[in-house]
Amino acid sequence: MTNGGVLKVAMPKGRIYKQASELFRQAGLPIPDDFDDSRRLIIPVPEAGMEFIMAKPVDVPTYVEYGVADIGVVGKDVMMEEAKDVYELLDLGIARCRMSVIGLPDWKPVIHPRVATKYPNVASQYFREQGQQVEVIKLNGSIELAPLIGLADRIVDMVETGQTLRENGLVEMREMFQVTSRLIANRVSYRLKNTAIQTLCDRLGRAIPSVIQ
Ligand code: PRP
Repeated sequence: MTNGGVLKVAMPKGRIYKQASELFRQAGLPIPDDFDDSRRLIIPVPEAGMEFIMAKPVDVPTYVEYGVADIGVVGKDVMMEEAKDVYELLDLGIARCRMSVIGLPDWKPVIHPRVATKYPNVASQYFREQGQQVEVIKLNGSIELAPLIGLADRIVDMVETGQTLRENGLVEMREMFQVTSRLIANRVSYRLKNTAIQTLCDRLGRAIPSVIQ
């Protein structure tokens, strides 16, 4: 894959990461054995003509939009929240979960509810489309705390196994949309490194069925 030079790939650290690196391995890419545990932030894989950039998931679309990464792996949740100017090339089918409205089981409708979330743009748009006026409160983690301690009436958050909800006595009130990880590309890179990107897409596309349940 030398067309246009080294292909720079932004990878999300955290929960998507192991599934993503497994997918790249299944696609036949020579991912180093220490890849999953390394603390290095830039990992060159010269045999594949690639370089991996280890990023906070929410920052992946920014690296790709600015072209410091040619492509990236990112959840649909982040794509919808960040709305960056990038191409979405492939649904990788990994890290499957859903974005939902969540609350306490005895929740009662109020005039101007407060909604806590890590995804203020997604939540605002959703409630606007529902014709509901809400106050959106941005938090950065442990969102489930908000209804428990009286900060918010509802939350908008990701549900994967549902364990966090069960352990905190919360219920899923409405599923908003399904989330999987996507392969995204910088618009200029997609033209200049098209052969390399297309080859990678084809290989990942063939490997997807072997890594998703
Ligand atoms: C995410 C999400 C939920 C949890 C859902 O949080 O925000 O809290 O995972 O997973 P489950 O349905 O399998 O329990 P994450 O672990 O990413 O940490 P955070 O609290 O910092 O957002």
